[in-house]
Amino acid sequence: MKNFTSDTLRETFLKFFESKGHKRIPSASLIPENDPTVLFTTAGMHPLVPYLLGEKHPAGKRLTDVQKCVRTGDIDEVGDDRHCTFFEMLGNWSLGDYFKKEMIPWSYEFLTSPEYLGIPSDSIAVSVFEGDAEVPRDEEAARLWQECGIRPENIYYLPRSANWWGPAGTTGPCGPDTEMHIIRKPKCGPDCSPACNCGAFMEVWNDVFMQYNKTESGAYEPLAQKNVDTGMGLERTLCIMTGAKTVFDTDLFASAVARLNQLTGRTYGSDEETTRAYRIVLDHTRTATFLLGDVKGIVPSNTDQGYVLRRLIRRAVRYGKNIGLTAGGLGQLAAVFVEKYAAVYPELKENSAKIYAELEAEEDKFSKTLEGGLKEFGKVITHIPGKVFPGKTAFRLYDTFGFPFEMTKELAEEQGFTVDREGYENAFREHQAKSHAGSEQKFACGLADHKEETTRLHTATHLLHAALRKVLSEDVAQKGSNITEERLRFDFNFPRPMTAEEIAEVEKTVNDVIAADLPIVMKEMTVDEARRENFVGLFSDKYGDVVKTYAIGDFSKEICGGPHAASTGELGHFRIVKEQSSSAGIRRIKAVLEK
Ligand code: ALA
Repeated sequence: MKNFTSDTLRETFLKFFESKGHKRIPSASLIPENDPTVLFTTAGMHPLVPYLLGEKHPAGKRLTDVQKCVRTGDIDEVGDDRHCTFFEMLGNWSLGDYFKKEMIPWSYEFLTSPEYLGIPSDSIAVSVFEGDAEVPRDEEAARLWQECGIRPENIYYLPRSANWWGPAGTTGPCGPDTEMHIIRKPKCGPDCSPACNCGAFMEVWNDVFMQYNKTESGAYEPLAQKNVDTGMGLERTLCIMTGAKTVFDTDLFASAVARLNQLTGRTYGSDEETTRAYRIVLDHTRTATFLLGDVKGIVPSNTDQGYVLRRLIRRAVRYGKNIGLTAGGLGQLAAVFVEKYAAVYPELKENSAKIYAELEAEEDKFSKTLEGGLKEFGKVITHIPGKVFPGKTAFRLYDTFGFPFEMTKELAEEQGFTVDREGYENAFREHQAKSHAGSEQKFACGLADHKEETTRLHTATHLLHAALRKVLSEDVAQKGSNITEERLRFDFNFPRPMTAEEIAEVEKTVNDVIAADLPIVMKEMTVDEARRENFVGLFSDKYGDVVKTYAIGDFSKEICGGPHAASTGELGHFRIVKEQSSSAGIRRIKAVLEK
């Protein structure tokens, strides 16, 4: 097999598909566009969903790219030899153009030809969809693989759990897939297959034959066009091609590991705990660098993407401390990643000043609370009888020392404790109820006054909030609201005055939604469901378990007590009368609805 670096592997893949008539497109943002179903871009196909559903792509019907992806579901697993929160996915797409009989021979050629990966054919196993009540068995894929030269005994029929690609959210384009695996050692038994996790097989590539659209009702509707969507993890393939044991042993991390050795005076791999801490610091710093450096760059905050980013940075700081990384260390490490990836992702260089400044600010903020918190944690844990860490204590650590729940959980688990999450959540709610009782309803969305005028202004407030997030930044969040019969007042975080163009754009955006006369849909759901469906609002800090959510098409989704207008058409014409400063970093808008 040929030897590869991350750069030559990317190029080899992209060039191969260019030679098959594909246009190379740049990686899209890590922050999904107009898609409330996921926080981050989690696969190469994600930014292409509109085109898989039939919209025309400006670059044509055959595309190839390397897409940056973030998956943070496994954040707590990072540190072992497999998990990362950031990865790059190589992919190619047919948008209603070629299908199985072209794609499978191309996959075979790329994997086995000495000009490309040069993997011996007999080291490859493939799996295909075995069929079920809704979608037939994929005999065609199996036959095509066999015609290419894959041995029949290396072709496996597997169920939907293994050979089906569903959308990242709950609805969207999907279909049966065929996965390609490297055979690494003998099977562990007669039932062993690529779905087994004994380590006999290692997935390298996935070709999805995307022919269905999963609708809200759960039905699979055939798509008007048949698509191909493929995904090959760059890191994993690089490990296979270079024999590296983990991604941290590849060239992607080589200069960062060297820098970290320098900064800490330790050596990666010297012992188990050091190795784990290194991997966490390396992975999280790399992901934070990409999130901060994204074209739609986000910053640490307490909600949504910003919260994940904050967790990553804080976890990196904490594990960094364990290996002797001092203040400013994350920024120095980030600089190595900026250099390493600059040629492929130029946005990192363009935003490098922001990356370093935000890392430093967050590191600073966190270090201050961390020290006190760690001391307190060490003290209280020695007094706990049994092995359950009380939720109330976890809440106190959060409230007084800014310790995220996850951190307490992790620290406690290191010492063999479990944490009472329910108790934590109860304490959280109790505290909120107390601190809000009698005080001004600062963020409250619900209206005391149900007059028609105020109800309409309330709905307009949701539209304004969504429009600001769209026009200015996804980081915009509500910081206060006050509604009278005559006008609405809305406070939000934003670092500078809005320009006249931005004000006009926000007005137009709101008025367009009013003109579309969209219904306002109320649904009750649990906080978890609301969070999953990306409703904005304050989670779990002042609402009960079940919350009311209000959706206005795909445009606005908020947790809120209501009441609201029945449809946006009732609102009339929206006009901003004033945009001014409210306090440091907070802007205030006053707006009216006119007949
Ligand atoms: N969308 C498919 C995947 O991510 C190719 O595996």
